[in-house]
Amino acid sequence: MNRKRPLQIVALVLAVVLVWLLLYWEPSKTAATPPGQHSALASAPKGGDFTLVGGNGPVALADYRGKVVVLYFGYTYCPDVCPTSLSRIAQGFSELDAAELRKVQGILISVDPERDTPLRLADYAPFFHPSLIGVTGTAEQISAVAGQYGASYRKHPQDADGHYSVDHTSLTYIIGPDGKLMTSLPYDSTPHQIIASIRPLLASTMNQ
Ligand code: NI
Repeated sequence: MNRKRPLQIVALVLAVVLVWLLLYWEPSKTAATPPGQHSALASAPKGGDFTLVGGNGPVALADYRGKVVVLYFGYTYCPDVCPTSLSRIAQGFSELDAAELRKVQGILISVDPERDTPLRLADYAPFFHPSLIGVTGTAEQISAVAGQYGASYRKHPQDADGHYSVDHTSLTYIIGPDGKLMTSLPYDSTPHQIIASIRPLLASTMNQ
């Protein structure tokens, strides 16, 4: 009897492996990812509509159909990255003529909803350019919108004085007049590059 035991164990292990394979094994459908590439990031963010809150109440992306929207995720206490990005967007805006500018809207979405109230954002964003507004929402709303656009952020622990910083992605998203996410620009994009992404989209709105 004892001599049968190892065989029974082997049979049991095989049976478990077989069941596991049947339940969970999926043959990989894609070729091996070349080194240095992140296959998990291959799917592009879809963007899409959202409704948040600005200094004058609810702000929906859909409010700006017919305009090119330049979207950025950041926060008003950001020491350097956000002011740099927003300044470059503002410089780009200032290169547009009046007719073009009427077809453009900049939106800063706060990744620090605890401190960035709608009124604080209403003070902060237009400081860079009158065509830039700031919006916020609940932590859940912000998280959902960031997810739509593939943006991420992480709050650092507070120091003894209650201060904290928030790491965040620093892409500038360009949304077409139909509300569709067209492209995203890296942090170090120049005002000219930002405008170069906006202008072809503006052209389609100018006759309307
Ligand atoms: Ni920032």
